[in-house]
Amino acid sequence: MTTLIAVGAQWGDEGKGKIVDWLAPKAELVVRFHGGNNAGHTLVVDGEQTVLHVVPAGVLDPKTVNLIGPGVVVDPDILLEELDALTERGVLRDPSRVRVSGRAHVILEWHRSLDKAREELAKGRAIGTTGRGIGPAYEDKVTRRGIRVADLLDPAGLREAIDRLAEQKNFELTEYYKWQPVDVDAIHRRAVEWGRRLEPYVDHTERTLERALRDGRNVLFEGAQGNFLDIDHGTYPYVTSSNCVAGAVCAGAGIGPTRIDRVLGITKAYTTRVGGGPFPTEEKGERGEELRRLGGEFGATTGRPRRCGWLDAVMLREAATVNGYTALAVNKLDVLSELDEVLIATAYTVDGKRTEEFPMTLGEIERAVPIYESHPGWTGDLTGCRRFEDLPQTARDYVDRVQALAGVPVELISVGPGRDETISRTEPFRA
Ligand code: GDP
Ligand code: IMO
Ligand code: MG
Repeated sequence: MTTLIAVGAQWGDEGKGKIVDWLAPKAELVVRFHGGNNAGHTLVVDGEQTVLHVVPAGVLDPKTVNLIGPGVVVDPDILLEELDALTERGVLRDPSRVRVSGRAHVILEWHRSLDKAREELAKGRAIGTTGRGIGPAYEDKVTRRGIRVADLLDPAGLREAIDRLAEQKNFELTEYYKWQPVDVDAIHRRAVEWGRRLEPYVDHTERTLERALRDGRNVLFEGAQGNFLDIDHGTYPYVTSSNCVAGAVCAGAGIGPTRIDRVLGITKAYTTRVGGGPFPTEEKGERGEELRRLGGEFGATTGRPRRCGWLDAVMLREAATVNGYTALAVNKLDVLSELDEVLIATAYTVDGKRTEEFPMTLGEIERAVPIYESHPGWTGDLTGCRRFEDLPQTARDYVDRVQALAGVPVELISVGPGRDETISRTEPFRA
């Protein structure tokens, strides 16, 4: 039995969905443990693309059971839409393959409204959220007034809980933000319907997880976002509202730290970011445009163009420390083919001083000027490579250098969006 956590090492969109889909057939369970439908995880199998926002990326494997843990915030409309689409395609034949924790908190309309109203008011200082209500939903959870998935199954109690919250939310929306109020009766009607439709999927997911561990099965945890969007370890306040680091698995899924075996950090061969906030290696001009075009860097959730820049080894080292990576996956290596030169930041200059450590404060991160080393590019289409030895020598040298700079072995290399376009150098679930 091996437990493996797969988490983003950058600002999200590293290709976690692709890697989780590739790993899933080896696992009994795939478990999401934080975040919500701010995530957009893209899977490509036999040329067919699936984008998942809430359902874990193990769902395309017919045998894997997919858990949505208590640490996730669930927008029932989005979850049901995904379940319906998967059922219609014949991918999901049995509700027992997707289990939703009754303890997960529910995203309601007022969360989305507040998210958008706050961003609009913040103007130039906006975080650039996905507008999916993630922050406001976690706020209600932490202030202990949220509504949980299990509450949807109790129509009588639900009315009271919704009424209690609605009064405050509509006051805030209309009086402070001058925003449209939400229709409380309509929310209640929909919430009852959600409960009816989600009931076959609701579960005590910690028990299911415990059974799999006791039976000695492989379990895969699927992170969303990435280390630098983590509420504590990211570029605060330009972050999401949950912990995205590997350690968040323990609370968000309900597993003890003593039972975690391996942590896979997932990075692109370069860097992207969606939304506001500092990005030391960002290329704002033509080179950034070129990376965006070559990598098809447009958001899977909001369609926004992703900001693009070079790989940042300062960030990778920081993420490796905070998450305890045992291995790295380097994705989208194919995208860098045909560039004359590929850069990696190995250190920063901050206020005239050289540092190899990721700075503590937002101001320092904003003022960080990367110190680059230059690598010769490589040519040719890498998407057909299946062994490390198949890669051009300069591409191999690049991967070896990433491994040395991060101090973590690169065990997986992705050379295309397709499930099979993957190079594996060892057995990821080995004990
Ligand atoms: P996630 O949020 O971490 O799951 O990543 P996204 O799905 O948001 O973004 C990654 C994008 O890159 C998706 O469009 C993937 O299909 C694509 N992708 C993943 N790995 C590779 C790769 O190795 N090469 C190329 N060209 N595309 C990839
Ligand atoms: P996946 O799982 C990239 C970013 C938003 C914004 C900030 C806060 O696909 O990698 P939020 O809506 O969470 O309050 O927005 O976080 N963000 C992501 N960026 N990938 C994601 O998820 C993201 N989820 C949130 O763009 O900057
Ligand atoms: Mg994504």
